Amino acid sequence: MKLLVLNGPNLNMLGIREPALYGNRSYADLVRFIEDTAKDAGVEIEVFQSNHEGALVDRIQAAMGAFDGLVVNAAAYTHTSVAIHDALKAVGLPTVEVHISDVSKREAYRQISYVREACIATISGHGTDGYLEAIDLLIDHIKSMKNET
Ligand code: DQA
Repeated sequence: MKLLVLNGPNLNMLGIREPALYGNRSYADLVRFIEDTAKDAGVEIEVFQSNHEGALVDRIQAAMGAFDGLVVNAAAYTHTSVAIHDALKAVGLPTVEVHISDVSKREAYRQISYVREACIATISGHGTDGYLEAIDLLIDHIKSMKNET
C-alpha cells in the first residue's frame, strides 16, 4: 500500500509559525513523524509540501494509479480552492482531510472547506498527531475496500 501526504502553504513554517495554534514541532519533525508512522504500519509513504496551488493539483493528478490514498492538509487553500476539490474528485482516491488546529473554532472564513466534500473523513484540532489518525483511518479504509483484514 502506498500513501501520499500533501501539505499546503505555510506548513513548511511549522515550529516558527504561530506556535500557540500549530505547536513547536518543525516541518522536518512532522515529516519524520509521518515517515515513522508509515514504517510502523508497514506502508509506503511520500510527503510533499508546496506553497503553490497548481503544484498541489499536479501532485494529486499524478497520484492516480501511483498511490492508494491521500492525506491532505491543504492549509489556506482548504478555504478557497475549487481546483484542489476538483482534482481530488477527478482522481477519486480515498482522501482524509487533516488540520492541525481546530478550524471549527476559528474565524468565519475558515468554516468553509472545499476539500471536505471530496474526503472520506476530516481530522481537525488534534495537532500533528492528527496525521497519525488520518493514516490509520486511511489504511483501514483501503484494506476494507480491498476486502483485506
Ligand atoms: C490549517 C488551518 C488553515 O485554516 C490554515 O490556513 C493553515 C493550517 C491547519 O492545519 O490547522 O494554514 O490547515
